[in-house]
Amino acid sequence: MIKDLTRERIQAGLKTHLVGRYLEAYTEIPSTNSRAVELARSGAQDGAVVVADTQSAGRGRLGRRWFAPPGTSLLISLVLRPELEPGQAPRVTMLCSLAALEAIRQVSGVESQIKWPNDLVVGDRKLGGVLTELGLSGTSVDYVVVGMGINVNLEVESLPEVMTPPTSLLAETGRPLSRLALLQALLEGVEARYLRLQSGWSPHAEWRQHLATLGQSVQIGTPEEIITGQAVDVDADGALLVLTPEGARRRVLVGDVTLRGQRLDGATSP
Ligand code: BTN
Repeated sequence: MIKDLTRERIQAGLKTHLVGRYLEAYTEIPSTNSRAVELARSGAQDGAVVVADTQSAGRGRLGRRWFAPPGTSLLISLVLRPELEPGQAPRVTMLCSLAALEAIRQVSGVESQIKWPNDLVVGDRKLGGVLTELGLSGTSVDYVVVGMGINVNLEVESLPEVMTPPTSLLAETGRPLSRLALLQALLEGVEARYLRLQSGWSPHAEWRQHLATLGQSVQIGTPEEIITGQAVDVDADGALLVLTPEGARRRVLVGDVTLRGQRLDGATSP
């Protein structure tokens, strides 16, 4: 049982109608995303949530591991069933990232930003990450599972050596914070934006405004190649547009960004 994050405690103060109304809370689980995908495939309702105190096989982007000792982090996955074309699914990640920035600001006062594609950062330090998994039914979206890991009361020295310098809300503010308050603010922020999405709103413009990456000289490692240039914009699908020194405009959908020679790839594994 997670003492501060029981289902009863989370739902008691939660002002949502959809998000978190079905909720599973675990002391330890291999991965909240894997459990949420399992739930989604077996017909879980829109807005179902899985929370854990710690994960034995937490997953990050690009097949990496996600480390979070017990009691230190917010580890959560949401099952959403938006009425979107598969190509519009990145909007769900965008709205969840925006809800995370807002919840972090409300509860801790910390101003964080998004490093493309979906790291939560304070300056050049990584505060959290988002891992989205899409399930299709024919040519439509069946589910979007959005997993978020946020370093809350984490002593950053306790992590294994990592490529991206990490931070936590404890490190930023010098005081421990309520994971419960952060989780409730996050779920409420997700629901508010999700309802707007279902009425046709796109979070793209707001998401773009919170990107730390635009205007920077970047080097992007994609599965195929390394692209160097200036990050000039992001398009409606969330792809990064990079102007290369040769004057070509490249559109990048997946990758790890390095800013000014420093690797900031979102990895949390050595
Ligand atoms: C990244 O930056 O690489 C994304 C990290 C996402 C980690 C979260 S923690 C909760 C959820 N469950 C997982 O196994 N991964 C995500």
